[in-house]
Amino acid sequence: MTLLAFYRYVFLWFLTLGVALASWRFLVADITVVMSAMMHQLQGAKGAFYAHIFFAPIALAMVPFQFSQKLRANRPGLHRWMGRTYGMSILIAGVAGLIIAPNADGGLFAATGFFVLSVLWLVTTVLAVWHALNRRIPQHRKWMIRSAALTLAAVTLRLQLPLGVPVVGFEFAYPVIAWTCWVPNLIVAEWWLRRRPAALAA
Ligand code: HEM
Repeated sequence: MTLLAFYRYVFLWFLTLGVALASWRFLVADITVVMSAMMHQLQGAKGAFYAHIFFAPIALAMVPFQFSQKLRANRPGLHRWMGRTYGMSILIAGVAGLIIAPNADGGLFAATGFFVLSVLWLVTTVLAVWHALNRRIPQHRKWMIRSAALTLAAVTLRLQLPLGVPVVGFEFAYPVIAWTCWVPNLIVAEWWLRRRPAALAA
């Protein structure tokens, strides 16, 4: 296994499924205990917050399966069903994201970061689904890669928090991470798309 393949395996499967499963902890334990840092959201648009934390992990959990070449080739029907689940989950979790973003911790800078992320998450996913429905597969792949890069912000945020908070403190780290959890992901996705245009047509 090459280093790149190992990184892909760890990041795509272990971290995405791990973060998705950990995010559903509120289903088995008291939310005020296991998400005590989110009390401000429970006092605000509670329904939107619950919709976000239930549906966003579903979208995240679909990512490694949807990018599996084996699954796409051998089980196209399953790929389409998981794609519908991914799209519907983002539609709900993304709209909920627009509602809860203004109430996020970290002030206006953090709120703007999460709000812009929600808008781009919805736009990239809608475009990806639209191209799939119209059988424009290279464009579908292109927009799905962008959408997935944004979905993976849930992972990169949780990797950056324990690195940033002890160094510069929560007050400074959190608003910055509200942007750095997704802007670099999108840059990497664009770099990859430009580097391997042939892979999209395959
Ligand atoms: C990509 C677009 C996303 C946006 C814009 C977004 C936005 C937000 C916002 C604004 C909050 C509240 C933060 C605060 O009040 O400080 C939040 C919390 C949360 N989000 Fe997302 N989110 C996104 C994706 C995801 C994904 C893919 C997951 C899947 C695991 C997820 C799971 C959660 C969870 C579990 C919380 C509760 C806080 C925690 O315990 O970590 N989000 N999100």
